[in-house]
Amino acid sequence: MASSKSDVVLLFGGQSPEHSVSCTSASHVYSAIPHDRYNVTLIGIDQSGNWHKCLPPDESIAPKEPFLVSGATISADELFTTSGNTKPIVFPVLHGPNGEDGTIQGLLETFEVPYVGSGVLSSALCMDKIKSKEVLSAHGIPQVSWMSFHADQLASVSETIESSSLEFPLFVKPANMGSSIGVSKVLSTADLDDAIEKAKNYDPWIIVEEFSPGREIEVAILETNSIAISKPGEIVPGADFYSFDDKYEDGATLHIPAELSGSEISTVQSLAEDVFTLMRCKSLARVDFFYEPEGAGWLVNEINTMPGFTPISMYPKLWQEAGISYEDLIVKLLESATR
Ligand SMILES: Nc1ncnc2c1ncn2[C@@H]1O[C@H](COP(=O)(O)OP(=O)(O)O)[C@@H](O)[C@H]1O
Ligand SMILES: [Mg+2]
Repeated sequence: MASSKSDVVLLFGGQSPEHSVSCTSASHVYSAIPHDRYNVTLIGIDQSGNWHKCLPPDESIAPKEPFLVSGATISADELFTTSGNTKPIVFPVLHGPNGEDGTIQGLLETFEVPYVGSGVLSSALCMDKIKSKEVLSAHGIPQVSWMSFHADQLASVSETIESSSLEFPLFVKPANMGSSIGVSKVLSTADLDDAIEKAKNYDPWIIVEEFSPGREIEVAILETNSIAISKPGEIVPGADFYSFDDKYEDGATLHIPAELSGSEISTVQSLAEDVFTLMRCKSLARVDFFYEPEGAGWLVNEINTMPGFTPISMYPKLWQEAGISYEDLIVKLLESATR
């Protein structure tokens, strides 16, 4: 008798420097999927971009690198061109370029497979810190002051910044990246070149923005039949800013929910929903803010269309606080793909 279970393909790993973050997220997502309801195929993308059919973490001989041990490669064509059968639901638990930026979403669109998360346009827009800032400012969404540069213009960055209204400290970032990779806080012109060199390793487009002294507040959005918005959470970085190590080595402290008044909560929730809608997001997103109560108020920092799913990640923790367990959250997301 044919199985009544739905097929799910968990796509993870990937070519971005956030590969290992994705593997960690995926191993938790895998464990949370109710296996009596879903048949899960694990597809790990290695650093060269090859797709491998993988063993589940608990059957792996190397639990820390659970996935890329089975060896056998498989093409998207073999995976998705199933004659007559219903297509699997794909959960692309991928972060950063070539995963969260619309590229994988475009591939999935061409195979007409349902997938969890935002589509091509939204994924690409939200990934690119320059383009997302441009769209948000066109719609009057408050943000820090910023400028963008291409690698070809880098010789004149210091001069351009000095003659601009931007004031130190500044943040220098690659336009397309995540997990704070390539991000630097710069106190004076003397440190600008090093920061630019670092950011340039990841993207020829670089964003330079003013430092916000605000609190770091994040809001989770989950779209099933309607849009649900979590209470805000707060990150108190353990380092000078919320760096890679801080994010994954448990250096930062998360306050869930954040200590805010009722009216502050409704302001940030409504801003987060505006941003989600403006950026054409689908299924899920985490909208990140700086909050300067005595100054600029709420400033949108960025939108993550595939936020981290490790047990210490803000996105699942915010839903847990709202009474949605990690397992229920994963099922809701899988169901959002079949709409
Ligand atoms: N303009 C800014 N003002 C203050 N802190 C910032 C600013 N930009 C980034 N940061 C700090 O750097 C971290 C990473 O920057 P972010 O823009 O969120 O990049 P990523 O996409 O890598 O998460 C933020 O969480 C925050 O701690
Ligand atoms: Mg961030």
